[in-house]
Amino acid sequence: MRLWNTNPVHGIRLTGGKGSTLYDEQGRTYIDMLSGTWCNVLGYGHLRLRRAVEEQARGLFQTGAAFGTRQIEEGLGELASILPPELERAVFLNSGSEAVELALKMAHAATGKAGVAVAEKGYYGGTVYALSLSEVGRSASYLPKAGNVLRVMAPHCARCPRSTECGEGEFPCLNVLEELPPQDWPAAILYEPLLGGGILVPPIGYGARLKEFARSFGALLISEEVTTGMGRTGKWFGYQHENIVPDILVVGKAIGGGLPVSAVVTTKEVEERAVPVLGRHVQSHQNTPFSGRVAAEVIGAIRDEGLVERSEEMGEYLLSGLRDIQDRFPCILEVRGRGLMVGAELTPEDAPRGAGMSKRLVEKGFLQDFHQLTSTFRLYPPFVITKDEIENFLEAFENVLAE
Ligand SMILES: Cc1ncc(COP(=O)(O)O)c(C=O)c1O
Repeated sequence: MRLWNTNPVHGIRLTGGKGSTLYDEQGRTYIDMLSGTWCNVLGYGHLRLRRAVEEQARGLFQTGAAFGTRQIEEGLGELASILPPELERAVFLNSGSEAVELALKMAHAATGKAGVAVAEKGYYGGTVYALSLSEVGRSASYLPKAGNVLRVMAPHCARCPRSTECGEGEFPCLNVLEELPPQDWPAAILYEPLLGGGILVPPIGYGARLKEFARSFGALLISEEVTTGMGRTGKWFGYQHENIVPDILVVGKAIGGGLPVSAVVTTKEVEERAVPVLGRHVQSHQNTPFSGRVAAEVIGAIRDEGLVERSEEMGEYLLSGLRDIQDRFPCILEVRGRGLMVGAELTPEDAPRGAGMSKRLVEKGFLQDFHQLTSTFRLYPPFVITKDEIENFLEAFENVLAE
């Protein structure tokens, strides 16, 4: 027996980790600039989370969604402490994909409309609907196509011939929404505050403009924060850079600190419109005491350890180090990011070297990845990463560029 060959696997067998460092069977160490699959924001071996999980293992993992538990109350309480009062209805699930699906179901149910608007170059999950909205699923001929998908140009400003026309509420990449006839108005705009695919950072004002479009269409704005949420961009949630409140918020990855937890949060008004149409929504691992306890503990740890602020500070440090390197290496077209969600894009001429460079960095002990579609190195380190670790990475990155 071996694993399905669905994802290229490095020939590395990991055995443990501490903070931002992972160890393998040979005793080699790796700085994890990806937080696993962008999930382990507290780093590895985090004592508070480990103790909470051990304690919960002596209690209940799963109870059936029809029962309440103290742990779910705790999870809700901690979520409420980091959200505006309007976002007051939540469901805990396991993965980002599931949460995106539920958010979309809520939007279709609440509005009675069929369409959904998404940015090109995005990734929204591995389930059939979420994947078919994603760039990787768009051309997958084996997939049934999601109907009525309105694709909006990605905010990939480094490659946009009209980026100079941006600002003051004007975003040429959103023009298709300006011209939309009422019969095509969607149920939802699925908005990722920073696109994780290529670390595409929309200009400030973009999210607020999307919220205006959603209002004028009678659609819901879904802030898809599977990657941007929980401090990743230097604020608890990416939508906060925009001074807006979404109608639905999707949280994943970081809220589990490496364990499978996600959440969908919405307003009382959306709940009242959607639930009578949706009927029951029950999944085996919905609202479990385990997910409530983990979410509460992760939110508490991020707050008590000042990790949102740390994400902003370390992100600035990483960005400025990369910008210094960019000054010396013209092969880097653009460095961009917010908080600890950082990317460095290669020029089109240098892009073919990206995958090889990324492999070299792994050999040197730095886990990161190279996103082919946007020719971008992606860096999502744990929030506990230190300046020394960032400097070590920058030195290795520069050496690999010079090779
Ligand atoms: C923006 C975004 N949405 C959704 C997902 C899907 O989340 P999951 O893999 O937890 O199902 C991902 C995963 O990478 C993601 O980056």
